[in-house]
Amino acid sequence: MPAYEKHVFVCTNERPDGHPRGCCAAKDSAAIRDRLKALVKERGLAKRIRVNAAGCLDQCEHGVTIVVYPEAVWYGFVSPADVEEIVTSHLVGGTPVARLRMADTCINAAQCPHRGGNESGPKTATHA
Ligand code: FES
Repeated sequence: MPAYEKHVFVCTNERPDGHPRGCCAAKDSAAIRDRLKALVKERGLAKRIRVNAAGCLDQCEHGVTIVVYPEAVWYGFVSPADVEEIVTSHLVGGTPVARLRMADTCINAAQCPHRGGNESGPKTATHA
């Protein structure tokens, strides 16, 4: 049996103001990580689910970025108000939160509607 059933990584990377890629720290990622950790503990899941701060996950334009393993579900544009739903639906119930999932075409893509390099699309938006 693995040490943890799920591992949740929350990007808390911080960059200087004005950086072209922005950063998750400027979008309240520490509060998201703290709330995730608190809810996992409150629900008695701390021995099964591990929540960690992560450095840059290279999906900065979609931040705050979270990835959940082993299923490799990527969430983007996560706010503190979304944390309860991620815990209840995904971490407890096993159903990822569809409205927060990053499109497969955006993950690690050089071009997507939210990144530079695609002049036809917005650089900030809700999910594709
Ligand atoms: S700063 Fe969060 S993914 Fe890069």
